[in-house]
Amino acid sequence: MKADPKRRIPTPAISWEAILTSLEDGVIVIDPRGKVSFMNQAAESLVASSAAALQQPYTRLFRKNPWLLSMIENSQPPHLNSTRGDSDFVNLWGRRAPVSASVSPLQDQYGRSLGTILLLRDITRRREMEEDLKRSDRLATLGTLAAGLAHEIKNPLGGIKGAAQLLRRALARDPSLLEYAEIMIREVDRVNLLIEQLLDLSRPTRLNLTMLNIHELLDQVLLLERETAQEKKIDVRKRFDPSLPTVYGDRPQLIQVFLNLIKNAFQAMNKQGCLTITTRMETDFHIREEGKEPGKFIWVEIQDNGVGIKEEDLPHIFSPFFTTKNNGTGLGLAICYRIIKEHGGLIRVESREGEGAAFRVSLRVTA
Ligand SMILES: Nc1ncnc2c1ncn2[C@@H]1O[C@H](COP(=O)(O)OP(=O)(O)OP(=O)(O)O)[C@@H](O)[C@H]1O
Ligand SMILES: [Mg+2]
Repeated sequence: MKADPKRRIPTPAISWEAILTSLEDGVIVIDPRGKVSFMNQAAESLVASSAAALQQPYTRLFRKNPWLLSMIENSQPPHLNSTRGDSDFVNLWGRRAPVSASVSPLQDQYGRSLGTILLLRDITRRREMEEDLKRSDRLATLGTLAAGLAHEIKNPLGGIKGAAQLLRRALARDPSLLEYAEIMIREVDRVNLLIEQLLDLSRPTRLNLTMLNIHELLDQVLLLERETAQEKKIDVRKRFDPSLPTVYGDRPQLIQVFLNLIKNAFQAMNKQGCLTITTRMETDFHIREEGKEPGKFIWVEIQDNGVGIKEEDLPHIFSPFFTTKNNGTGLGLAICYRIIKEHGGLIRVESREGEGAAFRVSLRVTA
C-alpha cells in the first residue's frame, strides 16, 4: 500500500519540563525571595531530593559552598552578573563532587528580576580523565629517564657484585667478615631487581592476548594469597556475575595486576578485615568511549575496609616509587596502571582515609 503523503505523523508535544528532565546538567531556579523554586533530576542527584530542597532558602542548601553563595549573590540585584567557575561541591550530607557551575540572573522580557538560575555539571569523569592523561605523560617522561639511568647503574652494579662474590670466596674461613660480603651481594640483588622492575615499566611489552574467564583468573590469584588471608583472618567475599562474557587479556600480566591489588588490600587491613571482589558489566558510557574502539567492557572491583588513602596521597599512588610503607617499593600500582593501559582498559580508585579503598579495573570483552 502506498503511503499517503498528506498524512502527518503526529509529533508528541514537548514540554519544558521534559527537556529539563532529560538534561545531564543540574538546573536550579532560585526565586526573588531566595528560595529554591525548581530543580531538575540531575540537580537532585547532585544536591538533594526536591522534597528536601524545594522552598528551602538557598543559603541553607549551599551553606557548605561559600564560593557558590557569592556567585548567587553576584547574580542578584543590584549586581545582576553572570559568572562561571569550577570547584568542589559539597552537599548537605557531606558528599563531595567536582562541578562546573554557571550562575545567571533570571529576568523577564522587561528586565525585571525573577531570581537566579544555576547550572551545575558534575565533572568527576572529566577530572579523572585529565588526571589519567597527566599520569600517562609523567610515566612516559619517567620511562625515558629510567631506561637511560638504569642502563648506567646496571654496569657498575655488576662490578660490585663480582667483587663481593670474590670477597666471599676469599673470606670463606672467616664467618664474621663473610657475613658482610653476603649482605653486599644480597643488597646488590635487591637493587638489580628494582632496576629490572623499573625497566619493565618503561619498556613497551608485547601482550600475549588470549580469551580469559575473569572469574577463573581471580580464583587463581585468591589461591595464591590464601595463606595470607587465613593468617590475617580476612573474610574474602566474592560477588561474581556468572553471566559475564570472556575478556581479552595477557594472563600472567593480569594475574600480576590483581595480585598487586589484593596484596595492597591485605596490607591495608588489620582486625576484622573484609575483602570484597565484585565483577559486573560496564554500563558507564564514558568508560566505553575512553577505550577508543567501540566495544563492551566489564569491571572488577577489589574493595577493602582497611586504612584507606589520604586525600592528598590519592593523586600520587599510581606514580612509580610512591609508597607509604616502610618496606614498599611503590612500584606495584605503577605496574598495574601500565598493564591495564596496554590492555586498552582503565583503572580507577575510590577511597577515604579510615574507610577503606576500592580499585576498579575495566577490561574489554572479547568481540
Ligand atoms: N588498598 C589500599 N589501601 C590503602 N592504601 C593503599 C591501597 N593500595 C595502595 N595504597 C597506597 O598506595 C601506595 C602505593 O601502592 P603500591 O602498590 O604502588 O606500592 P607499595 O604497596 O607501597 O609497595 P610495593 O607494591 O612495591 O610493595 C601504598 O604505599 C599505599 O599508601
Ligand atoms: Mg603494593
